[in-house]
Amino acid sequence: MKKFYITTPIYFPSAKLHIGHSYTTVVCDTIARYKRMQGFDVMFLTGTDEHGQKIESIAKEAGVSPKAYVDEIVAGIKELWKLMDISYDRFIRTTDDYHEESIQNIFNELYKRGEIYKSEYKGAYCKPCESFWTDSQLKDKKCPDCGRGVEQASEEAYFFRLSNYTDKILKLYEDNPGFLQPQTRINEMVNNFLKPGLDDLCVSRTSFAWGIPVSFDPGHVVYVWVDALSNYITALGYGNTSYGDFDKYWPADVHLMAKEIVRFHAIIWPAMLMALDLPLPKKVYGHGWLLFGGDKMSKSKGNVVDPVILCGRYGVDAIRYFLMREVPFGQDGNFTNEALINRINADLANDLGNLVSRSVTMALKYFEGGFPKERVSAPVDDELMDMAKGLSAKVESLMDDLQLPLALTEIFKFISRTNKYIDETMPWALAKNEADCPRLAAVICNLLESIRIAGILLSPFMPQTAPKIFEQLGISGDITCWQSAKTFELLPQNPKINRGDAMFPRIDLEKELNELEALGGPGKEAEDTLKAQAAKKPEGVVSLVDIADFAKIELKAAKIIACEAVPKSDKLLKIRIDDGTGTRQVVSGIHEWYKPDDLIGRKIILVANLKPAKIRGVESNGMLLAADMPGNEARVVFVDDHVPAGAKIR
Ligand code: MSP
Repeated sequence: MKKFYITTPIYFPSAKLHIGHSYTTVVCDTIARYKRMQGFDVMFLTGTDEHGQKIESIAKEAGVSPKAYVDEIVAGIKELWKLMDISYDRFIRTTDDYHEESIQNIFNELYKRGEIYKSEYKGAYCKPCESFWTDSQLKDKKCPDCGRGVEQASEEAYFFRLSNYTDKILKLYEDNPGFLQPQTRINEMVNNFLKPGLDDLCVSRTSFAWGIPVSFDPGHVVYVWVDALSNYITALGYGNTSYGDFDKYWPADVHLMAKEIVRFHAIIWPAMLMALDLPLPKKVYGHGWLLFGGDKMSKSKGNVVDPVILCGRYGVDAIRYFLMREVPFGQDGNFTNEALINRINADLANDLGNLVSRSVTMALKYFEGGFPKERVSAPVDDELMDMAKGLSAKVESLMDDLQLPLALTEIFKFISRTNKYIDETMPWALAKNEADCPRLAAVICNLLESIRIAGILLSPFMPQTAPKIFEQLGISGDITCWQSAKTFELLPQNPKINRGDAMFPRIDLEKELNELEALGGPGKEAEDTLKAQAAKKPEGVVSLVDIADFAKIELKAAKIIACEAVPKSDKLLKIRIDDGTGTRQVVSGIHEWYKPDDLIGRKIILVANLKPAKIRGVESNGMLLAADMPGNEARVVFVDDHVPAGAKIR
């Protein structure tokens, strides 16, 4: 059996994945389903990228171990993929024992081959954070984590001889034009990185511990990208005995990802594989971004679009359809609620939904007792049939080229053509005349047959909708398989047709947009969930407030830019903060536990609309949130540094 191996990037366990993250996974899932339907033995790999300094510090801030922190988030990611019908075959976590074993073996092997050597890493260093940063990572020449000044320093580190691979990677692109796609990514790699020449790559760190130790020098942990990229082979059993699929599936047919991480996949990864003498993946595809209001969607921008809420509101298949139809593959595409609702109404409710419901209704109305054997065809049938017979080949060629939006466009052109066929043949007029019964039977059967073919071709894209279509047509088994979409007239003489519910009820655009706007973002379900949670008063809660009461409190992320003790007070600190719109002063009784230097540069949660007050004669405009700890201690609630000052917290 022919093999097909496809991968998504492994995701950082950030608190919540947004709809942009699910884009790559939904595309991979669709391709994997398509290949399985074609008869390939498919390996579809996804997973999580769990090591690194960032995770270590977030976990520390949350007061839990890094492993406990990632465990909880990874469970949520798996739930999301379940909800979105993601049919992955294997899920790798970089904290899995077998992966760690493989990474140590890979590192040792590269070292043994002289591809890795020990030297010194020199760069900007933030002493309090114990972190090295490259110049481009610095923010205003300051530490991007804490905002403090940095100094030049060096640490012992291992380096990978990436500089030896500039010409080899250039040759790889020249000899294999399909290796990196789309073409714009080749231009980016060549102009930005390869033409200037590659530098050796620092592949170990000693300043933090949350990583895979270098086995022969345990003070070092392996650089996260070496750890992460290798997942594509360790998950198959390379360097470990937990899996034995490496020879079967490697090299990968497609590594799919968004453009910002193409450099790692199209330069560092092939260089590592060359250094290990392993075959290279057949294709690296860097698609565009799903944008939100013109910006890259990201948690830090506070413009997260929650896939759980979207799927709950509109259905998983509607979201999958939108993602794959709306974004020109390889380019950026915009996510707006309006575009989503318009697509649902125009394509799914009107074109597809109406076609199925009108055809099934007519089949039941006119032929409840069964179709007659005698059918009369007419020239108008030919165009529809020809289009139906050629559709699967067109879709296959586009899918093989990863042009999913164009494949959907072809399928929906056919659906529109089929709707037009109803208008052309006017079955209701034929039904008035007994003599036209054989013609009417042919028309209705052509309609059902066209729907069968469209349903099959839509199956990889919309895994919940296709079975609903087949259920209404009363068909299953062989005549719903991929190959059968190549043949017209496969319906049984008398299928057991069932009238189902509307698959995609029409949405009132204006009402829905008003509702979404009134909700200020996450949607009604989120509010309902919050209300339902509030109704069940959890143990230890003093009193319940309505969501509307909670909404009166304005919480914002804010950055501490200056801080000093209030004169003649042991407890009070005078804190100047940037709240995104300007600066203000807040007085807080936390001096017992924090020195001013501990706070400068940190991000906190500000109660922004608290009435101003004077504390010990010093004006305070707002309050920062802190947790009451045992022993009368207080700990400030800090916010991830990526959250911008001014971001609304709710
Ligand atoms: N952990 C690394 C990948 C290591 S792979 C060896 C990583 N993780 S990530 O969680 O930050 O992002 C992973 C992927 O999510 C991106 O490459 C991309 O495929 C997808 N996307 C994240 N935001 C996206 C959009 N706004 N739009 C489209 N895809 C997006 O990078």
